[in-house]
Amino acid sequence: MEGLMSRGGEAPGTPDSVIPENEGKEKFKKYNHIAFYRRQKELQQGSSYYRPLMDTLEMSERGAELELIHTETEVRFLLCVCAIQGRVVRVKINELQPIRARYEVPDVLIGEPVRERLSAEKADKDTLRLSWSNGQYQMRITRSPFQLEVLCGGEVMVTLNSQGRLCFETLRDPPDKGSSQKGEQDDEDSAGLWKETFRQFIDIKANGPSSVGLDFTLHGFSNVYGIPEHADTLLLKDTSSGGPYRLYNLDVFAYDIHSKLGLYGSVPLLLAHKLERTIGIFWLNASETLLDISTVSENLVASPSLAKRRKLPSQTELHWMSESGIIDTFILLGPSPSDIFTQYAGLTGWQALPPLFSLGYNQCRWNYKDEADVRAVDQGFDRHHIPYDVIWLDIEHTQGKRYFTWDRQLFPDPPGLQCYLQDKKRKLVVISDPHIKIDPEYSLYAEAKNCGHFVKDREGNPYEGSCWPGPCCYLDFSNPKTRDWYSSKFALDNYEGSTDSLFVWNDMNEPSVFDGPEQTMPKDAVHYGGWEHRELHNLYGFYQHWATAEGLTWRSGGTERPFVLTRSFFAGSQRFGAVWTGDNVATWDYLKISIPMLLTLSITGISFCGVDVGGFFHDPEPELLVRWYQAGALQPFFRGHSAMQTKRREPWIFGEEVTTIIRAAISQRYCLLPYWYTLFHQAQLSAKPPMRPLWVEFPKEPQTFAVEDQYMIGSALLACPVTDPGVKEVKVLFPGCGEYWYDVHSSQIFRGGRTVNVSVTLDSAPVFQRGGTVVPRKKEAGTCTADQNSMPFSLTVALDPKGSAVGDLYMDDGHSFNYTDKKEFALQRFTFFNGKLLSSCSDNTGKFESRCSVECVQWMGVRERPSAVTAQLSGDRAENVPFTYEEKRSLLTVKGLKLGAVQNWQLEIK
Ligand code: GLC
Repeated sequence: MEGLMSRGGEAPGTPDSVIPENEGKEKFKKYNHIAFYRRQKELQQGSSYYRPLMDTLEMSERGAELELIHTETEVRFLLCVCAIQGRVVRVKINELQPIRARYEVPDVLIGEPVRERLSAEKADKDTLRLSWSNGQYQMRITRSPFQLEVLCGGEVMVTLNSQGRLCFETLRDPPDKGSSQKGEQDDEDSAGLWKETFRQFIDIKANGPSSVGLDFTLHGFSNVYGIPEHADTLLLKDTSSGGPYRLYNLDVFAYDIHSKLGLYGSVPLLLAHKLERTIGIFWLNASETLLDISTVSENLVASPSLAKRRKLPSQTELHWMSESGIIDTFILLGPSPSDIFTQYAGLTGWQALPPLFSLGYNQCRWNYKDEADVRAVDQGFDRHHIPYDVIWLDIEHTQGKRYFTWDRQLFPDPPGLQCYLQDKKRKLVVISDPHIKIDPEYSLYAEAKNCGHFVKDREGNPYEGSCWPGPCCYLDFSNPKTRDWYSSKFALDNYEGSTDSLFVWNDMNEPSVFDGPEQTMPKDAVHYGGWEHRELHNLYGFYQHWATAEGLTWRSGGTERPFVLTRSFFAGSQRFGAVWTGDNVATWDYLKISIPMLLTLSITGISFCGVDVGGFFHDPEPELLVRWYQAGALQPFFRGHSAMQTKRREPWIFGEEVTTIIRAAISQRYCLLPYWYTLFHQAQLSAKPPMRPLWVEFPKEPQTFAVEDQYMIGSALLACPVTDPGVKEVKVLFPGCGEYWYDVHSSQIFRGGRTVNVSVTLDSAPVFQRGGTVVPRKKEAGTCTADQNSMPFSLTVALDPKGSAVGDLYMDDGHSFNYTDKKEFALQRFTFFNGKLLSSCSDNTGKFESRCSVECVQWMGVRERPSAVTAQLSGDRAENVPFTYEEKRSLLTVKGLKLGAVQNWQLEIK
């Protein structure tokens, strides 16, 4: 079967040969293979060739514009700086008069940012000062050397070009082969100016060298995060040895852990944090990008002149380099981590609110064989009382990898199958990749070809590469017409066999090209508008994701929320749906690295993210599978997936013990969905990711800055999944000096500011609720999320040292846009203070009727048995309600309540 072909069209793999030793290791470039990197590194540090021409300063609503001149070539550039509302600085540099337009990334910013008025003041002929917000923020531009400093409250936060690394390769005409000397030509070729060779691949650069680069010094910062996607630590590493981080979207089969080479997606956003402030640097460039990081932590050095020791402050130097485009960079000034999230979302957009079903458990495999198989797996979940919402079909469901078709032998009645699932309120997701099989009989191909929807090669013919179906063409999603056309293919009457309970998965959209350089599209392929692929490579998946999400939205006439999972992504992809981390391996190391990978995605806007639970390649031992389910249940997007060559591993295959534990993990996830959904609602408003590194919640506690095996779910839950085999205890850092934390299962209390060894068994996935919070849950898991519509809630009130707590609950219909279009939502706030738990509406503009009641409330941390507990609906008399109190656990429980979830009421502990 075609699907058994391993990458690159090689022979079918046996399980052991699924990841051949060193497969692909030399398929991908190392940093020293990259010509523009070598060129930029060869430039002398410290001696900037660029000078601002102070007399050219022009101030307008657009900000300040100023020419720069290259001191040797005398080429002129335009420097534009502006202050964007909400403490963001934008710095743009382009050639003043390029011989051809240079690529400026479109579609990523959600709009033209609103600017603040800058005031300019020339301190002297060498220095220009710009200020805004009543002088609170300033920029200082110096002439010689050319530097740009950004100051907050008089303190320099960031200096641009402090190392003099500004580099802007200007576009030029190709060398005249006839007249140039042979020696010169060889030099040019070895510098990769017009041509670059990697293995058997030759990249012809129609525009010649066009790279850009700039360095930044971040003063006082030594903790830096972000720039996914790498299978690496949360805290970014100093790259002084071992080469830069690479941002170049690639299909890296069973990727290496702790590698700085790029994976499937890229977000060129870096966050830097110190005790007093968090800042961000967003480098808006979609071509291949490299980032060198050099960090100096605060230390004492002997000072020769003073004969005593002096403190050298921390700082981080960044050196961004991109193969093409312009310099367009945003400095987000925080000051808090939450401010960074809002500032960044203000530029690139907020996480789309997922339909509730997609936050449930997703069951995937490459491939569920046929309809009977799908039904059997679906029934397996019911038989074993394991909730789930979505079953997924991989590439084998199609007719010979022709997307939008069905293999009618295996899937004779797709609508029937979807109706069968829909009757149980469950969904089907199918895969739709961007490569289109070359087959004139395949209508999608024929139409795309006729209408010019394919990416072209250098000669202007549709570019051909190989992927799952064999020879393929690739849709040019950068063309708005192609996107619209593609979107329309998801309409129910266009997509044969689809129903409105079918959703979509975009894969191989880096794009993956089995016979292409680094298994992707050659950089000299040509897109809409004549742009070379090199300019927008990192945007390819973003565009497909966008077109697919749009297609699903249109399908419903704009009323239903789409769900689309993508493998490749860019800054802004959060607007279109979910992202997963691609082809991992069933080993403990991959389970462990999944946490920092998801944390990094989360803090760079991609909040709805997950990993292949269980590991894609190879067969997990039962213990690993159990631990992976426990971890996955505590992560935003929760999907089990496995490669074709692996053994089946539905949750009930490994015997009763494993089934029971997995059932518990998934059921607990379902019970916690009201909390997850509330967090996604908040992510949509405030851009705070549901899954957060500890330092985001505890920015003043340095011991949290590098933690990557524990994290926060919202601000209430501390998750510490077990990621090692055979462990009997895990070390848990309880942050927040003086705070209380409660084990969600035992209510055992832990003090913040300590690290404690917590005992675990195979069935424990440690989660702790922070004192001072209220967490809403459903009392039961149900069979899928739709069951929860009518199920009662329970609230867990975890008291802080002052005996108070607060929490929110967001509700809407879970699937439509009525929450925004018609304001059909409810936002309820629960506040516990002075012995009274108040439920009150915290957004009066919402109107959503919920049939659900709050049936149970538990308080953790109640020191004394109360004499009574009363319940009072607004306007009614307070009535005693029965309660139980467990002194040893300081746990007070009230059950059997019938308090409306969206009503105002009060419970009082006497
Ligand atoms: C890629 C995907 C994987 C999928 C497979 C077949 O490897 O990452 O999830 O199962 O292709 O479509």
